[in-house]
Amino acid sequence: MSKKIALITGANKGLGFETALQLGREGVHIIAAARDKTKGIEAVEKLKEAGIDAEFLQLDVDKDTDIRFAYEYILNKYGKLDILINNAGIQIESDNWGVNTSIGLEESILRKTMDTNFFSLVKLTDTLLPLIRKSEAGRIVNLSSILGSLQLHSNPASPIYASKLFAYNTSKTALNAYTIHLSAALANTAIKVNAVHPGWVKTDMGTDAAPMHIPEGAKTSVALALAGADGVSGKFIHLDQEIPW
Ligand SMILES: NC(=O)c1ccc[n+]([C@@H]2O[C@H](COP(=O)([O-])OP(=O)(O)OC[C@H]3O[C@@H](n4cnc5c(N)ncnc54)[C@H](OP(=O)(O)O)[C@@H]3O)[C@@H](O)[C@H]2O)c1
Repeated sequence: MSKKIALITGANKGLGFETALQLGREGVHIIAAARDKTKGIEAVEKLKEAGIDAEFLQLDVDKDTDIRFAYEYILNKYGKLDILINNAGIQIESDNWGVNTSIGLEESILRKTMDTNFFSLVKLTDTLLPLIRKSEAGRIVNLSSILGSLQLHSNPASPIYASKLFAYNTSKTALNAYTIHLSAALANTAIKVNAVHPGWVKTDMGTDAAPMHIPEGAKTSVALALAGADGVSGKFIHLDQEIPW
């Protein structure tokens, strides 16, 4: 297959679905991964109705068996992976983004958040890396958040200063560290690895209070997924701007 192949986690809704739509419109073949089979198949039907070349893959990023199956499936069907969008993520500690949860947070919430947003993402990426190495221009896009920025969190004048969801923010800070480390490890290859802040976006996670609409929110991921050989790696990006780590 001459088309680029992209795997997008959590592609059934929100930013993941929109990223599938926008990348699909650019002629990329979409493997739309979702943990729920019914929701995933419905999403793929919608993508196909929009003229997108897409297929469903069941992938709960927290399940090692699903990660192994994803590797085998892509290996056997395509032998390579051009784009990995690590989009699946959770925020389970509070409905209120403007609070500080660092005192008394249940350990199970911290562990669950770190599992899905960090450990599972690292495991999936590491498992799929041999397939991404087979691509002529592998791109790994990690959905981080401005809330992972330590520089901004330590500055009382920063607009995100009050938003201290300890588990979520820490998981994104760890993801940022992974982005820098993996990018450095792959510096002598064609693979580029970047972290994205999509904006504060009107999704189930972002809520209706968010100022940004979903199509705008997917733009940064799409741009980095399609970046050319002169594109950046090891950066933290929102639209065309770098975000401080
Ligand atoms: N929206 C924002 O303002 C914003 C801002 C900064 C960063 N982000 C990041 O952007 C990414 C997408 O967020 P969103 O706003 O689109 O959120 P969303 O609408 O809540 O969608 C999250 C997606 O992740 C999936 N997911 C969660 N746990 C999973 C697992 N274990 N395995 C596979 N899929 C799983 C969900 O699947 P189900 O439908 O099955 O639950 C859903 O498809 C997240 O990483 C988020 O942290 C969002």
